[in-house]
Amino acid sequence: MKNIAIFISGRGSNMQQIIGQVKNGILKDLCNISLVFSNYCQALGLKVAKENQIQTLCLDSKGKKRVEYDKEVLTLLHPFEIDYIVLAGYMRILSPEFIKTYPQRILNIHPADTRSFQGLNAYKWAYENLLKETYITIHYVDEGVDTGQVIAQQKVDLTGVNSLEEVEQRGLQVEYELYSKTLAKLFSG
Ligand code: GRF
Repeated sequence: MKNIAIFISGRGSNMQQIIGQVKNGILKDLCNISLVFSNYCQALGLKVAKENQIQTLCLDSKGKKRVEYDKEVLTLLHPFEIDYIVLAGYMRILSPEFIKTYPQRILNIHPADTRSFQGLNAYKWAYENLLKETYITIHYVDEGVDTGQVIAQQKVDLTGVNSLEEVEQRGLQVEYELYSKTLAKLFSG
């Protein structure tokens, strides 16, 4: 049974899916969500986590230096004995010190093939470039932005989409499925 911490900065819809799968789905008996952490104390997802009786912590990152901020987060995390950190819409780059503390133990979901597109607004990129398909990617986090080793990918069919909202809707459905599926595979060894 792995102890995981989910890191969010916003609405937390991926987090919510993982919570559901831990309660009553493919992640049941494979992991326990010890903590939901946010760098933004107003994040909507924190409310959702609390409603699900999950321990939450937040520490506003605005105006803080990366290295010092991450040191504080590491101190907060320490007592929870976390095995894996699951980034789900966490909008902050992690410091090398942080990453070294959890080697191959931090995962991220990126809404594009990280080999083709890194950084923000990946659905907009797919939409504006009229892609017929895009690939949701789960990867380990290294010191770059969306450059870590790819763990799993799943295709999103974009044929016939008429708006960016539609691209996002289709993409998110794949995100939800792929994240829990990948975690389940990883945690079951
Ligand atoms: C998702 O599209 C995820 O791939 C990206 O940020 C978004 C977070 O959405 N990294 P949510 O907070 O999980 O709803």
